[in-house]
Amino acid sequence: MSFDPKWLALREPFDHNARRPSRVLMPKLEGARVVDLACGAGSNIRFLAPQLRGVQSWTLVDHDPRLLDTARVLLGMPDSVHDGTPGEWGSHSVTTLQADLRQGFPKVDCDLVVTTALLDLVDAGFVDDLVDWLDGRSILASLTVDGLIQWTPEDPRDAAIHGAFREHQFLDRGFGPSLGVGAAAYLIERLEQAGYTVQTQATPWDIPAHKTRMLQEMAQGIAHAAKETGAEVEAWLSDKLAAIDAGQVSLVVGHVDVFGGRRGIMKSQTDQESR
Ligand SMILES: C[S@@+](CC[C@H](N)C(=O)[O-])C[C@H]1O[C@@H](n2cnc3c(N)ncnc32)[C@H](O)[C@@H]1O
Repeated sequence: MSFDPKWLALREPFDHNARRPSRVLMPKLEGARVVDLACGAGSNIRFLAPQLRGVQSWTLVDHDPRLLDTARVLLGMPDSVHDGTPGEWGSHSVTTLQADLRQGFPKVDCDLVVTTALLDLVDAGFVDDLVDWLDGRSILASLTVDGLIQWTPEDPRDAAIHGAFREHQFLDRGFGPSLGVGAAAYLIERLEQAGYTVQTQATPWDIPAHKTRMLQEMAQGIAHAAKETGAEVEAWLSDKLAAIDAGQVSLVVGHVDVFGGRRGIMKSQTDQESR
């Protein structure tokens, strides 16, 4: 499935703002080797690198070379080399790797695996394989949708449209039937079974009434998806767009961030902090 770089650029400030409270989940690794799965245009590294300690080494993985090109341009590394050759972003080492995650996970040494806005698009088998591949390494999976969609003021038709939208989120996005709003719960269950200690943090988008472009995109995206499952959306959408135009509505969209660390790793971090 392909994603429009303009959509990723539009959501980036909302993503970063939503993730502010998730700083408490940040692992206390020094000079981590980080792999970002389905990195898109590099939003995750821009948010996370300043939060992690020391000089890091990042591998950004995506199947879409156009998004990897955009990531490199935005990081000031404008050559289109996506074969794992390292470049520099400030003091950090960064490489981009074009790979289809349906074919398997990258063979890269790392201490921390991160991913944003991916897990609701994949099926249960992908999460099973991901946890096996982690093999004890820590994971920070951010901005997985949790099903909350709350317009203010509420419209009596919202619930039916949102129900149809959530149904659409379970459809196949290229990885088999998507986990959709069940993705975070499934990841947590699999991590705990594998002996991880899991922490979570709510990271909702809070979209105020003056952010009209984002609100329009959300209303149109929800309507488009809901329509594909057979819902009647035209009147709802035109009323919602009129209310957005008039600056009369705001929106909250729920997400959750999940950090998984092996018990031993979490304990030794805590021990270090208490010394
Ligand atoms: C919702 S976007 C999130 C992008 C980025 N993580 C962010 O938060 O801005 C989902 C990403 O998954 C990537 N993706 C989808 N299918 C993929 C696959 N089979 N292999 C690798 N990446 C894939 C898309 O190219 C896109 O960058």
